[in-house]
Amino acid sequence: MRFLRVGAYEVVIVRAQDGEIRAFQNTCRHRGSLICKEREGQVAKLVCPYHRWTYELDGTLIWAGDMGAEFDASKHGLKTVSLRHLDGLIYICLSDTPPDFESFAELAHRYLEVHDLANAKVAYTSTIVEKGNWKLVWENNRECYHCSSNHPSLCRSFSLDPEVAGVAADGSVSASLQAHFDRCEAAGAPAQFRLAGGGQFRLARMPLQANALSYTLDGKPAVARNLGRVAIPDAGPLLMFHYTTTWNHFLPDHSLTFRVMPISTTETEVTTTWLVNKDAVEGVDYDLKCLTEVWVATNNEDREVVETNQWGIFSPAYVPGPYSPDQESGVAQFVDWYVDRIEKALSPVRLVAG
Ligand code: FES
Ligand code: FE
Repeated sequence: MRFLRVGAYEVVIVRAQDGEIRAFQNTCRHRGSLICKEREGQVAKLVCPYHRWTYELDGTLIWAGDMGAEFDASKHGLKTVSLRHLDGLIYICLSDTPPDFESFAELAHRYLEVHDLANAKVAYTSTIVEKGNWKLVWENNRECYHCSSNHPSLCRSFSLDPEVAGVAADGSVSASLQAHFDRCEAAGAPAQFRLAGGGQFRLARMPLQANALSYTLDGKPAVARNLGRVAIPDAGPLLMFHYTTTWNHFLPDHSLTFRVMPISTTETEVTTTWLVNKDAVEGVDYDLKCLTEVWVATNNEDREVVETNQWGIFSPAYVPGPYSPDQESGVAQFVDWYVDRIEKALSPVRLVAG
């Protein structure tokens, strides 16, 4: 069976031989040691490295040496973590009472199905730590005002039209963007802009720059064997974000997922995964450097601007300035969503305090 360790929060995701995917807290029920130390791998059982307590792949404790006659192993299985599988993507929630997932799953499934992510393989993964607060990482993601001065590679393909990263207050889009949506939808690739869940998630299939088909320096597809069934090569990326932890780009030839994890007030881990058709062969169907170089560079450039932003905010002289109404509507949308969520979360505390 395979496991994947989600490092920042110590969760281990396990796929057993029965194909079932489960998630557990990566902490032993004895004295709390990590169980999986590697980022990923294959094991037959989950064995704690400290005193060898051994867990079945469903989390059941099956061996604990010299624990005495009174010891009840059934009370010491691994703590499970809520997990949902959606069209090849896995979502976990650390809360004991996970929020509703269905409204997102229903909408996202309609857009994702055509990308056939269940038949993807991981071509490359990168993890970087940005020395900036998680909110700054998101604010940076939610606009492309900074792109022309910071992302020379990405700007060869990504559209600088502020509609692509932004959000109109009334949800409207331009006639040219609507024409793109209509063309994609007619070809079987859902594309229409949708902001839902009280602003927590957005889906839209956005056009790239003219003549660009993928995130490559020359604009040509990075992978000869498509991932999924998007029939028009210039459909552009399906952009999907879901606050608080992920934004994604699903292209006709490959897909990119980004996981955004706050690990302290001034550090955020960003993991990027490049997915290609499981039958695509490196060196034949794709060149790994060509596939990854645009977003490896872009991530590094974003790390630089976020860290510089964080240092500026540390200044006691810092006072927030206005957003560009044309370029930063997405930032405003993120901040409004965040403030709304925090106000709701804090309101019982205020009542008690008052
Ligand atoms: Fe895991 Fe002791 S802490 S077996
Ligand atoms: Fe950027």
